[in-house]
Amino acid sequence: MNKSKILNIIMAIIILVLLLAGRDSVTPAARIKSLFKKTTHVNTSEKVYTKRSLGEKNLVFPEPAMVIGSYDKDGVPNIMTAAWFGVANSKPLKVSVSLRPATYSYHCIMANMAFTVNVPDASLISYVTFAGKYSGKDMNKFEETGLTPVKSEYVNAPYIKEFPIVLECKVTEYHDLGSHRQFIGQVIDAKIDDRLLNEDGEVDMDLFNPIIYGQGKYYSGLDLIQNINEIVPKVKN
Ligand SMILES: Cc1cc2nc3c(=O)[nH]c(=O)nc-3n(C[C@H](O)[C@H](O)[C@H](O)COP(=O)(O)O)c2cc1C
Repeated sequence: MNKSKILNIIMAIIILVLLLAGRDSVTPAARIKSLFKKTTHVNTSEKVYTKRSLGEKNLVFPEPAMVIGSYDKDGVPNIMTAAWFGVANSKPLKVSVSLRPATYSYHCIMANMAFTVNVPDASLISYVTFAGKYSGKDMNKFEETGLTPVKSEYVNAPYIKEFPIVLECKVTEYHDLGSHRQFIGQVIDAKIDDRLLNEDGEVDMDLFNPIIYGQGKYYSGLDLIQNINEIVPKVKN
């Protein structure tokens, strides 16, 4: 066999090996790119909208509508609705909620350094509206609504029995941001109605209909549009 024949065979083997190696190594980036081709419906040749500047305006959508539970200094339970809420840290798990000093809840949370986050589903909308309109300064909102306060297991704050998801939070720090004080609450325990869990003990979102808030209006209804776990194996928040 002459030299060039040997070289050709070696080249052919190298190309074959490269082709075989490349066959299974579809990178997450490539997978996402191929997904774009399948799911993107934006026609780039259509009209491109001009962005209009609105200055300092809250255009965040969607926002959550949570109901925050706390005891006042005499141990009377209170609830208020809060949209200025978010997950703030993963380890340890912390959430944040921002309250105005004018709210009764602000002073209740300061008195006990604890609160609960009660996550409503759409069927509980009237309670969310009520808790966001009236103040614990003027009434006992549990008595007025007929909701049941339950003393938390781990923190000195009441949760609402009728709400499907509850976080028991201990205040670890707070920040004065201007109009609001942002309370950071470490989640000591999260509780959920059995009925929302599937056989593997995971939350079944098909059974939960959360309230979505934005621009002073409440919305509901979720459609699954993508399962991120099927595209990229691990998402780090
Ligand atoms: C949808 C919604 C979201 C609200 N979000 C907040 C909030 O994030 N922070 C806040 O201080 N007040 C918020 N409010 C207003 C309080 O819920 C309201 O002032 C309430 O009466 C306070 O109750 P309290 O005085 O018993 O604490 C919200 C009200 C509604 C209806």
